[in-house]
Amino acid sequence: MTTRDKWRMYKSVSLMFFLAVVTLTVVQRGNISTGEQFQIERHTRMEPAMEGELQRKGFYPGTGRFWKGNKLKVVEETTEDPVVTSNRRSKGWDVTSSNCSANYNFTSSDWFTNLEPNFKQFLFYRHCRYFPMTINHPEKCSGDIHLLMVVKSIITQYDRREVIRKTWGKEQVINGKRIKTLFLLGASSNEAERANHQKLLEYEDYIYGDILQWDFLDTFFNLTLKETHFLKWFSTYCDNVRYIFKGDDDVFVSVENILEYLEASRDVKDLFVGDVLFKAKPIRKKENKYYIPVALYNKTHYPPYAGGGGFLMAGPLARKLYGASETLELYPIDDVFLGMCLEVLQVTPIKHNAFKTFGLVKNKNSKLNKEPCFYKSMIVVHKLLPKDLMNMWEMVNSDLICSQKVQVL
Ligand SMILES: *[C@@H]1O[C@H](CO)[C@@H](O)[C@H](O)[C@H]1NC(C)=O
Ligand SMILES: *[C@@H]1O[C@H](CO)[C@@H](O)[C@H](O)[C@H]1NC(C)=O
Ligand SMILES: *[C@@H]1O[C@H](CO)[C@@H](O)[C@H](O)[C@H]1NC(C)=O
Ligand SMILES: *[C@@H]1O[C@H](CO)[C@@H](O)[C@H](O)[C@H]1NC(C)=O
Ligand SMILES: *[C@@H]1O[C@H](CO)[C@@H](O)[C@H](O)[C@H]1NC(C)=O
Repeated sequence: MTTRDKWRMYKSVSLMFFLAVVTLTVVQRGNISTGEQFQIERHTRMEPAMEGELQRKGFYPGTGRFWKGNKLKVVEETTEDPVVTSNRRSKGWDVTSSNCSANYNFTSSDWFTNLEPNFKQFLFYRHCRYFPMTINHPEKCSGDIHLLMVVKSIITQYDRREVIRKTWGKEQVINGKRIKTLFLLGASSNEAERANHQKLLEYEDYIYGDILQWDFLDTFFNLTLKETHFLKWFSTYCDNVRYIFKGDDDVFVSVENILEYLEASRDVKDLFVGDVLFKAKPIRKKENKYYIPVALYNKTHYPPYAGGGGFLMAGPLARKLYGASETLELYPIDDVFLGMCLEVLQVTPIKHNAFKTFGLVKNKNSKLNKEPCFYKSMIVVHKLLPKDLMNMWEMVNSDLICSQKVQVL
């Protein structure tokens, strides 16, 4: 058996286990629900104080009796004192219709007819900017939050989300600084997945309350939509978030190092830091995943941008980026698009060596890939699958003694 096969088996066994737990939980409660119940009850999974607050304001109809005495208390917080600001409450996600029809206006142009099908598809729907939400958590940003961890994920990668919640995505308070976590998802791009996984996702959210989902297809070229939807969501709901970490669901992250870095950078205005590329050239080789035809981008260089695997930005900057994004046409590569938004704002992202989102070292077999002392000194490292992430996390957070302190911070 190859490692790949083993991994596949591990995945299907985990899925079966997860399904069994879901079924058991539902049966134990004496009712096989058809799922409709989740939709209402899901909203009740929040802090009691917050729940009261929202009910008084008429946001949610029922109470969360279902959750009373439930052991599944995931949020590790000592005190919660939601500061509800008055101007924010009047707003909400204002997109309710999904129908945006394709724009065939340019189909007869020469430059268009020679494009690959995926770029044609992208261009037909490029003008469709915002979609409704299928899972929302308006309460997530209540109160002062020091660091909001935002993770791009897809519906089938529940095992990655599971490990992240246990490791670097754990919601906690460190030295009075609140850390919260959210996962960003679109709709499944495959019919079978939509049927089987959507209900599981809703159940997962009902347990953890940390999923945002929008009604656009979760495809590679739609990752930019995930970026713009998050920026809009953040601008709508999160007035008191100091910093955002945004990353992929297959990276290693050191929360401790992030906090240390942020402490040292508290005076930096419009902080945006990551694995920044300056003067990157658009890729013109058709077989590359990041290939871009000249018809779509005709300049020789991209503006500076940070690898989407993981970067840090200041909350107020995220709101400005939302404004900037609205002045631009969507671009199929999400991290480049964000670089274009930064350019509009004339903010230069900072490059830092503790962000390794374009791979750790060139040589895949290098010992560094398995060296916990190296990870201990990093902020983000691409790319680790769930079991490796768990192992590495445990090693880095054990009584690890690193003789040679790798100085990057
Ligand atoms: C099952 O659900 C139905 C309708 O939702 C409800 O009337 C009934 O009391 C429930 N049964 C139990 C055992 O909770
Ligand atoms: C959306 O679609 C429905 C039917 O599918 C149609 O009646 C409605 O006019 C459409 N709305 C817009 C804004 O195009
Ligand atoms: C397509 O062209 C028509 C006519 O020029 C214009 O009214 C329409 O807004 C265009 N559609 C889009 C989506 O830009
Ligand atoms: C992006 O999502 C929209 C809405 O689901 C879909 O119509 C469009 O085809 C997707 N675009 C790409 C390039 O996959
Ligand atoms: C590059 O593209 C822009 C907008 O798409 C266009 O206005 C400009 O003329 C193009 N420049 C060249 C050299 O093709």
